[in-house]
Formats: sequence, C-alpha cells, structure tokens
Amino acid sequence: MKILTTGSAGFIGSAFVRLMAQKGIKLVIVDNLDYAADLKRLEAAKGFFKFYKADIRDQKKIEAVFKKEKPSAVVNFAAQSHVDRSIKEPFIFTDTNIRGVQVLLEVSKKYSLERFVHISTDEVYGDIEHGEFLETTPLNPSSPYSASKAAADLLVKAYQRTFKFPAIIVRPSNNYGLWQYPEKLIPLAVLKILRGEKIPVYAQGKNVREWLYVEDSAAGIFEILEKGKIGEVYNLGSGQEKQNIEVVKGILEILKADESRIEFVKDRPGHDIRYKLNSQKIRVELGWEAKVKFEQGLEKTVEWCASNKDWLLGKWKKIAPLYK
Ligand SMILES: NC(=O)c1ccc[n+]([C@@H]2O[C@H](COP(=O)([O-])OP(=O)(O)OC[C@H]3O[C@@H](n4cnc5c(N)ncnc54)[C@H](O)[C@@H]3O)[C@@H](O)[C@H]2O)c1
Repeated sequence: MKILTTGSAGFIGSAFVRLMAQKGIKLVIVDNLDYAADLKRLEAAKGFFKFYKADIRDQKKIEAVFKKEKPSAVVNFAAQSHVDRSIKEPFIFTDTNIRGVQVLLEVSKKYSLERFVHISTDEVYGDIEHGEFLETTPLNPSSPYSASKAAADLLVKAYQRTFKFPAIIVRPSNNYGLWQYPEKLIPLAVLKILRGEKIPVYAQGKNVREWLYVEDSAAGIFEILEKGKIGEVYNLGSGQEKQNIEVVKGILEILKADESRIEFVKDRPGHDIRYKLNSQKIRVELGWEAKVKFEQGLEKTVEWCASNKDWLLGKWKKIAPLYK
C-alpha cells in the first residue's frame, strides 16, 4: 500500500507517522498547518514521509497531490478537533470536518484506492450515563464538533453504499499522550501549573472520559488500516474510565502541587456527562488491545510536558482567548 495521511502534523496523526517510521513504512502526508499543527512532532520520523502543505477543503490542491503520488490508501486525521472552539466558532468545523471530508472522498473516488480509513470519534454517539456504545448505537451528537464528525460519518457511509467506496470508520475514545496541544485537559492542566495559575475544571469535574494512550491509538488505527473489514465501523477504546477531577488530581500528585490549584468553572454548554465505548469488535476481530495503563500513561505524559515546558508555554498565546 502507498499510504497518504492527512492532519499528520496534529497530535494523533503525528503519532501515527512516528509509528509508521518505527516500522520502516514511508508515507505521503498532508496538513494545512493550522493552529494545532506542529512539524516538531514529526522530527523523530524524519526521512519517512513526504510532506505536502495542503488544505483538505482545497479540491484542486488535493487532486494535484493524488495525481502526483497515486496513493492506494488514505487515513484521514485532519479535522478541527476542539469542542470548546466549536462552541465559539462553529462554521470552520462544518467546513473542515464535513466539506473537507467530502473533498477527500470525491478525490479518492477517482483513484482506485484499496482503503480509506476515516478517523471519527466516540463523541458522535452523544453521552451515556450507564452502559456502553456499540458501533451500531445511533448517532446523537451534542456539540457542533461532534455533530460535524457525525455528519462526516454519514457521508462516508453514503459513499460506501452509493459508490462502493472502500471506507472504514474508526471511533476512538479520548486520546492523551506526548505532544498533545495544550488546549486539551491534561496538557492544559500542566501548562496552567507551569504558569502559576489555577486549573479550570468544568462543573465539579464529574464528567467521565475513556482515556486512550495515543501510541495505543496509533497502533489500533494501523491494525484497522491493514486488516479492518471494508464497510465496517470500529470503536477504539481502552476501557479505562476516569472522571476529569480524578485526572486533574493525578496530575497534581505527579507534579507535587496541591488541590488549591483547582478552580471549578461554569460548565461547558451541552457538556456530555460520560462516554464509554464497547471495543469488543476490534479486540475479537483484529486482536488489538490498549496496552498502556492510565496511571503509567499519565505519568509519562505529565513528565514529558514538564520537561518540554518551553514548547507548552509557547502555545499559550493561541489558547488564552478560550479562557477569557
Ligand atoms: N484527540 C482526541 O482525543 C480524539 C479522540 C477521538 C477522535 N479524534 C479525531 O482524531 C483526529 C485527530 O485528532 P487530533 O487530536 O490529532 O487533532 P489535532 O487538532 O491535534 O490535529 C488536527 C490536524 O489537522 C490539521 N488540519 C485541520 N484542518 C485541516 C484542513 N482543512 N486541511 C488539512 N489539515 C487540516 C491541523 O493542522 C492539525 O495538524 C480528528 O479527526 C479528531 O476528530 C481525536
């Protein structure tokens, strides 16, 4: 397979590129270098990718890349990915996460792709107080972000059915790990501590997420790319649930800071209370399982953030307006 990946300078996309480099697999990668991108994330994979700065909404440019590179497989990570931003500026989410995906589908359709792996999210199912989401659970998104991702899933499904397009949808749970942009909970908490400020926690921090270490996530996506069944949806979760407040307290413990650093703030509108995937299908069919225990992954992540504080602190300017 000649693999093209999008959103590859982002958090999960770059972890996938680094994993491929470890396996000796060369990629063609595309990213428009939006605010959450950083090419530093790709330094460890130097020599294993050919980079195109291109926007997935720009059909001409994407066509030109496909014409030149003739990929046989695509993994689409590119997206606007932050729920809070989608509440403040929803249109770029619709434009990128829906229209951008459709451009990729249209261009890919012209080339005889073997597979198109679309990275969706557990958030498309909405929230669930008890029990788990199956791949067949109806979509019921809550935020402009998750609605845009759900709409993209429907487009992918429509292309599967109408054009026999060889697509697979992956729905990962909350990813965390090295190089995550510090607008997301874990690196944001570390950044706030480094700045000597309080950590904003929505409501009482009771919201539950299923935490998946990004390297496990990249490995699962690779399994799906290689062995996943065309036309299928795969949930990708670790089974490790934590309340946000537990995560923040874990960070404080690692950094030896006390709980006075926590500031409970007004809840996010429409905040989903809990996500939990049933990931039996990928475990049974493809033999993938998350390896990293949350406590170990958190320690590694927090320590990495603390020892890369210049990188983290350097992102603050772009994040600050979210917390006004
Ligand atoms: N981070 C998570 O916890 C999580 C969980 C489930 C699913 N996902 C999904 O995984 C994917 C990757 O998430 P992430 O956390 O790495 O996001 P990210 O925000 O870190 O990275 C997204 C990347 O996409 C690029 N991008 C944005 N718009 C683009 C465009 N128009 N054209 C080309 N590139 C563009 C950005 O420059 C960035 O490099 C997304 O589709 C997201 O919805 C993320």
